[in-house]
Amino acid sequence: MCGIIGYASARDDRPVLEVLSNGLSRLEYRGYDSAGVALAASEVSVYKREGEVTALEEQLPDAPVDALAGIGHTRWSTHGPPTDENAHPHTDCRDRVAVVHNGIVENYRELRAELEAAGHAFDSETDTEVIPHLIGAALEGGADADAAFRRAIERLEGSYAVAAVFRGCEAVYATRYRSPLVLGVDDRCALLASDVPAFLEYTDEVVYLEDGQFATIGPTGVEVRDRRGAPVDVSVETVDWNPEDAGKSGYEHYTLKEIHEQPRAVRQCLRGRPQPFEGSISIEELEDVPRPTEVQFAACGTSYHASLYAARLFRERGVRATAFLASEYDAAAVPIDEGTLVVGVTQSGETADTLRALRTANAVGARTLAVTNVVGSSAARETDRAMYVRAGPEIGVAATKTFTSQQVALAMLSSALTDDRSGEFVAALRALPDRIQSILDDSRAREIAAEYVGSDAYFFVGRGLAHPVALEGALKTKELTYEHAEGFAAGELKHGPLALVTPETPVIALVSGRANTERMLGTITEVRARGAPVVAVTDDPESVERRVDRVLRVPETHRRFFPILANVQLQLLAYWVANGLGRSIDKPRNLAKSVTVE
Ligand code: F6R
Repeated sequence: MCGIIGYASARDDRPVLEVLSNGLSRLEYRGYDSAGVALAASEVSVYKREGEVTALEEQLPDAPVDALAGIGHTRWSTHGPPTDENAHPHTDCRDRVAVVHNGIVENYRELRAELEAAGHAFDSETDTEVIPHLIGAALEGGADADAAFRRAIERLEGSYAVAAVFRGCEAVYATRYRSPLVLGVDDRCALLASDVPAFLEYTDEVVYLEDGQFATIGPTGVEVRDRRGAPVDVSVETVDWNPEDAGKSGYEHYTLKEIHEQPRAVRQCLRGRPQPFEGSISIEELEDVPRPTEVQFAACGTSYHASLYAARLFRERGVRATAFLASEYDAAAVPIDEGTLVVGVTQSGETADTLRALRTANAVGARTLAVTNVVGSSAARETDRAMYVRAGPEIGVAATKTFTSQQVALAMLSSALTDDRSGEFVAALRALPDRIQSILDDSRAREIAAEYVGSDAYFFVGRGLAHPVALEGALKTKELTYEHAEGFAAGELKHGPLALVTPETPVIALVSGRANTERMLGTITEVRARGAPVVAVTDDPESVERRVDRVLRVPETHRRFFPILANVQLQLLAYWVANGLGRSIDKPRNLAKSVTVE
């Protein structure tokens, strides 16, 4: 949800515009309805445009501009439609400062009224535009850039990551509160961005800015200060993502590349955790965490589906567990005691609904844990503990490899926290990367997708542990294809949804030979009797083949991992249907990767 990049070249010879434009292309997954840059030299020059970054690039000057600092933004609109005027950066009345912002300024109406009364004319409908005007007012009052920036930020209520450049100034000023901002540090230059992939090609040395801290990147490198202006000693961390992780590596889409990266993502997720000799799981980050008596998961979208799967695994191991939609979760309204563990599952670690849920849990004194893909993310910092899923950067807006890695991480979590020991479970876990690879090598999803492109709707059914994956298959299909898709608990079909089933609505059935097989075959008979074509995703083709129209096979595995493997086929199916329809697969309409507003 909105991407920010900032760059101060200092001793570097790379043109500012080039770095900003590369960064914006990498950040586009965070929002893609408009984009813009501002370059600071003796004047502040702003270029911005509705549409994707490519539309902006057409407007950028060919010749390198003589700037030493700049900021850029990709927008996912919240206040005001995607227009050239509403695109960031925004400036003050006299173009002395340009600002980009991610988040929501909740008190912008009051601030705008106050500024308008003082003679400020606004160009956009955004909440953001009050920030440069506040800065401009402070400059007029005699403040220097640093003081003016701080004074403006003090007036804001809400959430924000803000970066600003000033006329005649070689530095970028930035701060954050409840919106992500990370600094990139190297000998020759300094960068900042909403997310590491934006600058990974320049540096892997990063500083995660904390809420309320102010950063200046410029000729003297990176300086971080607290709210009162006192210098802060920051720790520089090295991220273990490599620049190729952030590129397409020859695939037509990031989404397809990320689906194919799953064996590697799962290997990384497993690294050092399964203990084959003991048949146990050891999670370094959680070593002294006691067995919970109850687990409450809070998550959104795909991460919620991973949580539904995890909650079942805990329940199977004798621990009460419930998955809540984070937007509906309120720790004050559910019983919590010292044995309760509240787990926020969020690949980005920045989803506002999930952060709010975790904060309500912190507020009632619950023990909290974040399961996230992003080291140093807000979820990781605001909880007692963090477990990392280590899937590597995910650029496609639809979650694929992060979902698979979340399932694997949560399967390990359920085993580690219940001190479960099973050689069979551990061996099957360690075999997962190869099993996923064999699906990717042999999948018939592409040809089956071609047969069903253009259907009226797509229904996904599963039982037990496979039910969350039926929901996820439908969500992925909605996001990528823009077609109607629904996931159901197979047993529920006959209680209503069967009315929707026709010969034009393929039903994708998750049938494991190791759980609920007969009952799934019963469901298949019901929908075929209504003329629906059935595609079975199964590890037991012999039992199923004659009862369905098409089969997508998955290799045999532990009963608990069938959903993880079946989901890979569902991802491919959704991808190839969307591809057949010519959809914008990496950046589905109306969606953004990390949803930082409630
Ligand atoms: C779907 C998808 C979303 C996210 C949801 C939560 O493909 O990506 O449904 O799962 O917005 O995001 P995180 O996991 O970052 O909290």
